[in-house]
Amino acid sequence: MREYFPLLVVGGITGAFSIVFVVAYALIKNKKEAIGFDRNMKDGEIIRRLFVYARPYWRSFLFVGLCMLFSIAYDIVSPLLIGYIEGMVKAKFALSKLFGMVGVYAGILIVSLISTYVQAIVLQRTGQKILSTMREDLFTHIESLSHAQLNAIPVGKLVTRVANDTNAISMLFINILVTLVKNCFVILGVLAAMLCLNYELTLMVLCFVPFIVLFTVIFRKFSRRAYRKVKDGTTDINTFLSENLSGMKIIQAFNCEEKKMREFSARNKKLASAKQKQIFVFGIFRPIVYMLYISSVLCLLYLGGKGYIDGVSFLGQTLTSEIIVTFYMYISKFFNPIQSLAEQFNFLQSAFASAEKIFTILDLQPDIVDSENAIELSEVKGEIEFKDVWFSYVPDEWVLKGVSFRVNAGQTVAFVGSTGSGKTTILSLICRNYEIQKGQILIDGIDIRKIRISSLRQHFGQMLQDVFLFSGTVRSNIVLHEEIPDEEIWNACDYMNASGFIRKLEGGLDEPVRERGNNFSAGQRQLLSFARTVIHKPSVMILDEATANIDTETEALIQNSLEKMMNIGTMLVVAHRLSTVRNADTIIVLSHGEIVEQGSHAELMDARGRYYRLYTLQSHREQLQTA
Ligand SMILES: Nc1ncnc2c1ncn2[C@@H]1O[C@H](COP(=O)(O)OP(=O)(O)O)[C@@H](O)[C@H]1O
Ligand SMILES: [Mg+2]
Repeated sequence: MREYFPLLVVGGITGAFSIVFVVAYALIKNKKEAIGFDRNMKDGEIIRRLFVYARPYWRSFLFVGLCMLFSIAYDIVSPLLIGYIEGMVKAKFALSKLFGMVGVYAGILIVSLISTYVQAIVLQRTGQKILSTMREDLFTHIESLSHAQLNAIPVGKLVTRVANDTNAISMLFINILVTLVKNCFVILGVLAAMLCLNYELTLMVLCFVPFIVLFTVIFRKFSRRAYRKVKDGTTDINTFLSENLSGMKIIQAFNCEEKKMREFSARNKKLASAKQKQIFVFGIFRPIVYMLYISSVLCLLYLGGKGYIDGVSFLGQTLTSEIIVTFYMYISKFFNPIQSLAEQFNFLQSAFASAEKIFTILDLQPDIVDSENAIELSEVKGEIEFKDVWFSYVPDEWVLKGVSFRVNAGQTVAFVGSTGSGKTTILSLICRNYEIQKGQILIDGIDIRKIRISSLRQHFGQMLQDVFLFSGTVRSNIVLHEEIPDEEIWNACDYMNASGFIRKLEGGLDEPVRERGNNFSAGQRQLLSFARTVIHKPSVMILDEATANIDTETEALIQNSLEKMMNIGTMLVVAHRLSTVRNADTIIVLSHGEIVEQGSHAELMDARGRYYRLYTLQSHREQLQTA
């Protein structure tokens, strides 16, 4: 009985650890339900969709698989070789034979190392290719989303999807997948080799496997939780950063630095503690597996040693020192991949989680798509009609309530009304940035839902309330995606009164534009956007007039540009300047999403209604200002 005492100690310790972990597992299991996060997509579905990205590179993966065979073979053959050398050394010692064997061993090692190296390079290259395809798909898809959909997703979240989540997936292809496959083969190969050598010792090693499985299952639960927290924390920080970095000037202007700092600090600490927990989980798991490994080595040395001295092992199979040496090596070759398998499994889960997030974005069906056999408009006369249009951003909160009006080709319509009355909304509906719920919008008598979106927008020049300039140059901001000769650019700038200030710039058309055009004044940005619009020769011009602080000189320039624009084609303008309003063919007065008056300036003045009051109030104020 005494001779089994050491084995009992090992068993006792392993058992004690198991109990502790099972209890911890039971506790966390209840907690998890309380938090209640789960994945919606099935693993199979994710794998199938990831496979689509990998398929074009099947040759590379096949090559990697072949290279992998060498390293698997090394893992299985090398312990046998060492065991053989041990037997050789123990028997009649011949130095030349030893050198021969060591040479063979070194040869196998070198081949295995080279194949691992080549394999890594091929994988990296393939992984990066898959990664960039995925990023492009994601970006293209985001481009196809409607304004309503884009409004619903925080920019920081999209950045995380395109930057971080795609990265997690590339890790899957570069590292995880191959290691998983390799480890499975190594485990099976080593097991087979051990069984052939000595099934008794193999049985002994296998006694530890249930514990490894148990610990791995428990570890996975903990580490998945930890992972999810790290992920959520990262997204949270990215979202916060992307919003607040854009709004930094406002933060400074309103002395909100401290408050924002506190908010950031809370998120920062949350992420840090999530990371720490994750490291802690790994910090427990690795030593536990190591403990099992050491225990099994101890058992091997104990049982094997006893068996060697007696000439037979515990179930009666003969034992040699070669077998013990070989087994000693096999045990580590057996445990290493098991540990790494468990950890890789977590990376796999996290890659799947990332994949799911990416696919969820890719699965967002663009709200606004071309209908089947949508019409391509080669030319637009510019006749626009709203027929009882109802629209809401949020279900049942109507922003437009039965708006009907008609604009003849070439006419100018001005929308007037207090803030929030729906002026900007009407303009964005015409270009189908949002989909209306009821009614019809007709362009040249055709429902806009029957027109191809790209061709619709091609004929419409939209100048939105806040002019957006991209980082680049003045030229790139005017021509956007088209190749346009400088002469034409200058013509457009001259026509829209933008060339005056551009000529004064040091770089002229090549003057750099910083992010969002923050090195230009509001008036300059507006003039640039005019030039940008007219150069693309639209048939209908849509302008949400900005009332930002613009100096009198620029104001006059903008006024002049507006008058010219009225001559280009149909023009719909949200007007704040009285002169713009007065010159319009039709004025539409809006209030709370309904048209309350429409007609020419003279007609509306005669009617002495809302427009009359607005106009007299404003002209009175202007007189006061000029006086
Ligand atoms: N993206 C949006 N999501 C939800 N509501 C919006 C959105 N844009 C505007 N609104 C609401 O629609 C109404 C009309 O807005 P808008 O057309 O911008 O008014 P205006 O340009 O006349 O000042 C406002 O009450 C505003 O709160
Ligand atoms: Mg507006």
